[in-house]
Amino acid sequence: MSAKKLFNMQPVLDESSTKERFKGKVVIVTGGASGIGKETARRFLNDGATVAVFDINDDAIRNTELEFKQAGFSPMFYSVDVSNKAECLSGVGKVADANGGVVHYLVNSAVYFCFEALQAEHEHWAKTMAVNVEGVANMVQSCYPYMVKAGGKECGIVNMASGSAHRAQTNRWTYSTSKGAIVSLTKCMALDLSEQGIRVNSISPGAIWTPGLRSVLGLLTRTRLRNILEKPTYFVGLVKVQK
Ligand SMILES: NC(=O)c1ccc[n+]([C@@H]2O[C@H](COP(=O)([O-])OP(=O)(O)OC[C@H]3O[C@@H](n4cnc5c(N)ncnc54)[C@H](O)[C@@H]3O)[C@@H](O)[C@H]2O)c1
Repeated sequence: MSAKKLFNMQPVLDESSTKERFKGKVVIVTGGASGIGKETARRFLNDGATVAVFDINDDAIRNTELEFKQAGFSPMFYSVDVSNKAECLSGVGKVADANGGVVHYLVNSAVYFCFEALQAEHEHWAKTMAVNVEGVANMVQSCYPYMVKAGGKECGIVNMASGSAHRAQTNRWTYSTSKGAIVSLTKCMALDLSEQGIRVNSISPGAIWTPGLRSVLGLLTRTRLRNILEKPTYFVGLVKVQK
């Protein structure tokens, strides 16, 4: 099966029946100007939520803002680097101030894709852990007081882990370790925040054809890419393909 067909095997979601589902809820999506985060933001907007997108890519922010506007949506956009705690605190504070002092949902989707192994240097580890792991903690710490104010039980957090957290993959020491850390961090957060009724979960997607994945795999030759796609176990969670 071709790569194109493989990545088109997605269920069609009915969006018409959920229009009011998140009406009155304030949602922050990090990494929301691209890929999974962008689609998450769009779906929350479709479902009636007030959405704030945090991202560091100004071009992607501009394009997403335009795209959403053309679709009739007007979320807030903030240039926030999740690895910078001061920026997280300030950005979340602005969102809460503009929305009655509350935040209901947080989706942590921002990522630094760093696929290094034997060649990994301190800088690779430092940035990977700062964005992918500490960034999640920074955002949860920043949102927590506003979720408590919103009543706790009404609130939830989703941290984007990866199938890479659960299976060995070649050349992924840095990325996979950070995703494994997100799974552990999420469990600890869920325990601590349950006292306030705030739910914390992680998701471990398989391969999803996003600009981020494209930029990483785009570095590969067509032959290498075909070899990877013909070995389904390389992408954990991807539907197994019978040859
Ligand atoms: N695409 C996949 O196949 C796949 C599979 C499993 C898990 N995931 C996870 O899903 C999440 C989203 O992945 P994607 O493929 O949509 O990526 P993507 O690269 O398309 O989008 C990520 C966004 O995060 C932003 N970002 C990067 N660093 C940031 C920072 N420091 N602060 C704020 N924003 C920052 C980027 O500018 C980008 O807009 C990631 O956590 C990724 O690990 C993706």
